[in-house]
Amino acid sequence: MRPVRTIAVINQKGGVGKTTTVANLGWQIAGLGQPTCVMDLDPQSHLTLHLGVEPGVNPHDSYELLVTETTASQAALQVAGNENLWLIPTRIDLAAAETELSDHEDRHLKLRRKIAGQNLPWRFLMIDCPPSLSLLTLNALGAADDVLIPLQPHFLALHGLGKLLNTILMVRQGINPTIRVAGIILCMYETGTKLAAEVVADLHEFLQASRNSDLPWAQAKVFGQVIRRNIKLAECPGHGQSIFQYDPHSAGAQDYSALTGQFLELFGTEK
Ligand SMILES: Nc1ncnc2c1ncn2[C@@H]1O[C@H](COP(=O)(O)OP(=O)(O)O)[C@@H](O)[C@H]1O
Ligand SMILES: [Mg+2]
Repeated sequence: MRPVRTIAVINQKGGVGKTTTVANLGWQIAGLGQPTCVMDLDPQSHLTLHLGVEPGVNPHDSYELLVTETTASQAALQVAGNENLWLIPTRIDLAAAETELSDHEDRHLKLRRKIAGQNLPWRFLMIDCPPSLSLLTLNALGAADDVLIPLQPHFLALHGLGKLLNTILMVRQGINPTIRVAGIILCMYETGTKLAAEVVADLHEFLQASRNSDLPWAQAKVFGQVIRRNIKLAECPGHGQSIFQYDPHSAGAQDYSALTGQFLELFGTEK
């Protein structure tokens, strides 16, 4: 079995589509037969709720994973209705993990130690990060093979992206020398607006300028499939369901389904 491919889904800005992407992309990748685990690393527990799990009810979760000897397999629970999907849930106490870990010398590498070299039964492990560049996010970056960045194309988006990429560069130079940015996913895309088109053109230009470098984002792909703004995507978390359960014919389901195809083209489908 190949080691699990660990993918951190990061943007330090809140409300850009990280959790929605982890829930629905994860659901669909698993639905296509790729054993997948999604991890909630945001104390707000939105991913946990989105997948229909009450925070704090499961005996194990990502808080324990970081601060105790609990293993990733122990912390994961199978998601109802999808035989290939697991969730490492969280609860509000995760916020305290930052303080509890702050005295540890290897505080950035707690998560990596729970994943690297472990015989985990999944092909993909996708981590939903909090909206900050905190110790929790650094743990995700320390553990990740790849980064996916959901981006909402509005006028300060690229400014925020620069800061995030600098953090990833520091991580590459320090705790995780092989990390790379695999792709950028355009979320809450307003089709037909000039602003969205301009931001995307700027993004391509920026990435083009780095193509021949050894920067972590030199090969980053801007996924051609965008996620349009779609009210059904905003409704389904309240029902504890993925978009594929809540409204499989919606634009949101179509977009995440097509994105899954592009994701698997990039990462491959072998087990
Ligand atoms: N494509 C979309 N269209 C409409 N609403 C969306 C879309 N993507 C996400 N949302 C909603 O926007 C809010 C923020 O999205 P979320 O995925 O939670 O962002 P983040 O995890 O980056 O904070 C949530 O209420 C979510 O349901
Ligand atoms: Mg979120």
